[in-house]
Amino acid sequence: MKLIDGKAVAATLREEIASEVEAIVGGGGRAPHLVAVLVGTDGASETYVGHKERCCGEVGFRSTVRRLPETTTEEELLTLIGELNDDPQVDGFIVQLPLPGHISEQAVIEAIDPRKDVDGFHPMNVGRMTSGLPAYVSATPEGILTLLKHYNIETAGKNCVVVGRSNIVGRPMANLLSQKGWDCTVTICHSRTENLKEIVAGADIVIAALGKAEFVTADMVREGAVVIDVGITRTPSSATKSGWKLTGDVKFDEVAPKCSYITPVPGGVGPMTIIALMRNTLRAAKNEIYGN
Ligand code: GUN
Repeated sequence: MKLIDGKAVAATLREEIASEVEAIVGGGGRAPHLVAVLVGTDGASETYVGHKERCCGEVGFRSTVRRLPETTTEEELLTLIGELNDDPQVDGFIVQLPLPGHISEQAVIEAIDPRKDVDGFHPMNVGRMTSGLPAYVSATPEGILTLLKHYNIETAGKNCVVVGRSNIVGRPMANLLSQKGWDCTVTICHSRTENLKEIVAGADIVIAALGKAEFVTADMVREGAVVIDVGITRTPSSATKSGWKLTGDVKFDEVAPKCSYITPVPGGVGPMTIIALMRNTLRAAKNEIYGN
């Protein structure tokens, strides 16, 4: 069994981005600028945005967090999005999800200029991605592909089972792995899937992205499978400084011995997601996807 060290791969890629930013700034250019919009005080969202902000600092990006109260109306949020769309000093921005229940996430996502949609959530980017066109791609699937490539994991012709059908992870992941170049035979499982255990047990590559702690157990995994764990369930813990412990969607201790490769939680997919967002922001600053 080989552990996929997302933290180490992310550190290498961070250095590469930092060098590129240094060259841009050294040549008289402006540092890429990422804005994160955070509505309300969801603890997990605060943590994720904090990680993104820290990484921006490490690679030399300018970073701004726009904090809005839980009571913000949809109209007020849409007004801010309009301002960010029009601001030439902002290269890319994200609106951290989930949003309070009174705000339509879809309306918000569709209001973002696709050129600044570094989360890759806008239907324009989703549609371009599914058509195999240049697009901003959702950071978690992009980060996972980078890991598979880094470890030279063979995907062509392999049976890949994606557990979870979210717009952010499961569906883009399944689509990308089925595309030319990756060439997987992909199955998506979800809460209504029958014989889920048997389907997962037939997989060469398992992507666990359903958000249920320790859902994937040893009896569901074939000997020699590659297991990618996207889960990050936070549970209270007295053993950590933060008071939280992160648990993946995979029962790591019993699944790991059966795997050829597996990602840990934390230190697997999470750091790669942040790096993919940094890369998208750098692309936005260079107008790489949509041109000038
Ligand atoms: N909530 C959970 N993951 C994400 C993400 O990648 N981007 C945003 N905007 N919100 C999230």
